[in-house]
Amino acid sequence: MTETSPIATAQILRTLHIVTWGCQMNVYDSARMADVLRPLGYRAVDTPDADMVILNTCHIRERASEKLFSELGRLRAVKDARGGAMTIAVAGCVAQAEGAEILARAPYVDVVVGSQAYHRLPALIAEVEAKRRAVVDTDFPAEQKFDHLPAQQASQGPIAFLAIQEGCDKFCTFCVVPYTRGAEQSRPAAAILAEAKRLVAGGAREIALLGQNVNAWHGDGLDGRTWPLARLLAELADIPGLARLRYTTSHPRDMDAALIAAHHDNPKLMPFLHLPVQSGSDAILQAMNRRHGVDLFRRIVADLRAARPDIALSSDFIVGFPGETDADFAATMHLVRETGFALAYSFKYSPRPGTPAAESPDQVSKSLKNSRLQELQAVLREQQHDFNRAQIGRRFDVLFTGPGRHPGQMAGRSPYLQPVIVNTASLVPGTIHPVTIASANPNSLMATLNQEQIAA
Ligand code: 5AD
Ligand code: SF4
Repeated sequence: MTETSPIATAQILRTLHIVTWGCQMNVYDSARMADVLRPLGYRAVDTPDADMVILNTCHIRERASEKLFSELGRLRAVKDARGGAMTIAVAGCVAQAEGAEILARAPYVDVVVGSQAYHRLPALIAEVEAKRRAVVDTDFPAEQKFDHLPAQQASQGPIAFLAIQEGCDKFCTFCVVPYTRGAEQSRPAAAILAEAKRLVAGGAREIALLGQNVNAWHGDGLDGRTWPLARLLAELADIPGLARLRYTTSHPRDMDAALIAAHHDNPKLMPFLHLPVQSGSDAILQAMNRRHGVDLFRRIVADLRAARPDIALSSDFIVGFPGETDADFAATMHLVRETGFALAYSFKYSPRPGTPAAESPDQVSKSLKNSRLQELQAVLREQQHDFNRAQIGRRFDVLFTGPGRHPGQMAGRSPYLQPVIVNTASLVPGTIHPVTIASANPNSLMATLNQEQIAA
């Protein structure tokens, strides 16, 4: 027998440190990379003084590569102090975008692995060890990475993330995602349902489905037909023990009638939706190649509120997109005031190399971007605080996840994703209890447990 048993392999303990920047998909990918490396004996540690360090990078906005190279500089010192005994890998969207350029600038890097090739990490590491030279893998393989990652995953706790879709074909003119994550790919329903069941068996009560364009999901269904997201959500809702479902991030164009209806029909779908609109000006939306106008967004919001009157909305905004006039920005402010958001993320436009908008001659000045961002964020902050204050006196179920910051407290999540704190220490993480909201801070809610029967 020449085969090494998995137990013997696992006995060679090696330390692994992963630094994650960027979106929830990167957080998910980092966890999957840890899963893929676990059978090789790698165990996660909190310090960069480790046998292997992975920097999982984000390219979406400013200064991605400066941040990467300054972190690499720090790591180089640690690697030198270890006499070179450290494998440094750069993963994620900067790795995908810059590939071998990274090795040219930082020759002490061992592996550059694009966001579609994580399942090939063990082979890449073996190649580095055997040939003592760096490797780059930024291909978009035909096989889907998620379906080549190990089924055995570390437990994520009561709130789990599950990637169902990756990539994007929309090519908004400001965005690098179609280039770094490739074409839209939907995982088959069977693989998603199997992963969801494993997550629930591992303690998940809430699952957030992830994708760059998650509501564009159209995967192979269990009946051999292509399913829309609403159908997948219905099937997921049947998993015993799973209490809550969410999906993020969505595009307005893909909010079809069935998905809006799911917010009425699917009792496990939480009344909260992140739906980026980016701008309230038709001219800017068109220049962004968003392929819809402000009216479509308004109509979706109205339909969602009709389907689920208690739904709360979150969004993304970009200010200072090339050519944005005072009137365009005023239209964004108007849309924000008229819609009312529970939460929102807003950014100054950042020209991304290789994207069409970066080439535009109508770039907006830094100072105008700054002042518009401040004006927008002031209103969004106020709306978030108003939304939190409006919860005072409301009763709803909270999914408790663990101890609060102070002794004697437990923390959990409201249906609207707000952190909720109670002054009770005896709740089991993963249980759901009805509470009444007592007070609101800008970013969290204080609550008391209701005396009635525990919800689950
Ligand atoms: N500049 C500023 N913000 C951007 N986003 C994406 N690309 C850029 C860019 N080039 C924002 C969008 C998107 C969010 C994830 O990041 O608002 O919805
Ligand atoms: Fe980027 Fe989203 Fe537009 Fe796709 S839909 S290009 S991910 S902003």
